[in-house]
Amino acid sequence: MVPPVLEVDDLNTTYQRRVVLDAIDLSVDGPALVAIVGPNGAGKSTFLKSILGLVPCTGSVRVLGQPIDSVRRRIGYVPQRESVDWDFPVSVGDVALMGTYGRLGWFRRPGAAERRVAQECLSRVGLDGLEDRQIGRLSGGQQQRTFLARALAQQADVYFMDEPMAGVDASTQAVIFDLLDELRDAGKTVFVVHHDLRTVASRFDRVVMLNRRLIAAGPMAEVFTTENLQQTYDSQFVTLDEAIACSATTR
Ligand SMILES: Nc1ncnc2c1ncn2[C@@H]1O[C@H](COP(=O)(O)OP(=O)(O)O)[C@@H](O)[C@H]1O
Ligand SMILES: [Mg+2]
Repeated sequence: MVPPVLEVDDLNTTYQRRVVLDAIDLSVDGPALVAIVGPNGAGKSTFLKSILGLVPCTGSVRVLGQPIDSVRRRIGYVPQRESVDWDFPVSVGDVALMGTYGRLGWFRRPGAAERRVAQECLSRVGLDGLEDRQIGRLSGGQQQRTFLARALAQQADVYFMDEPMAGVDASTQAVIFDLLDELRDAGKTVFVVHHDLRTVASRFDRVVMLNRRLIAAGPMAEVFTTENLQQTYDSQFVTLDEAIACSATTR
């Protein structure tokens, strides 16, 4: 039997004694594109960090049927753009190459093969010719593409992406959506924290609705309902369109 891609059991995360995630139980089968939605401060970023073991939490998390530390190399993470130090003196090419380190192991240096993979991934996201540019000297869309290239270079099986489309232009958004489709078609599962409710139903297979607690999770058609949106956003919408319009203005 194939284990779920993600299995979370009674996950609790607390910052300075404040409960940010409260008893989350979740099981997700793949391959799939999974949108994670919820208002600002709902704990979406914390949820990804808890799964990845980047913040202290209690409960059990299994990815691909195993504890996170056993499968780290099969997991790619694209952090929220605001959480990255863009003054760090590395180039676009360096960042993409970092994606290959997990497969190399600690003591081998990247060689021609790794450089080729990094270069291919940069091409795939449309960053040809920018290899030597320092990451702080990129546009928001280019920064986001750089981190996507790094994730691709990892050749992971499961990806976690935190708002990859926040503040990017339409062409970068299109590149990212195409990439997500490609990854899913290649049998991978991608969890995407996504703020734009207008594109949730059309571009993702499953949805996780979060507001400190898990409100609902499952296939889009069953779960992405007005009632669940009302609960997630603590608001009184009457129709799905209204919910979507409202969430767009309250950000
Ligand atoms: N490192 C931290 N220390 C203390 N509180 C934090 C920290 N990171 C996030 N928080 C708080 O936890 C809550 C959830 O944050 P976050 O996971 O970033 O939400 P989201 O990504 O859904 O906007 C917010 O109230 C935020 O202020
Ligand atoms: Mg966040």
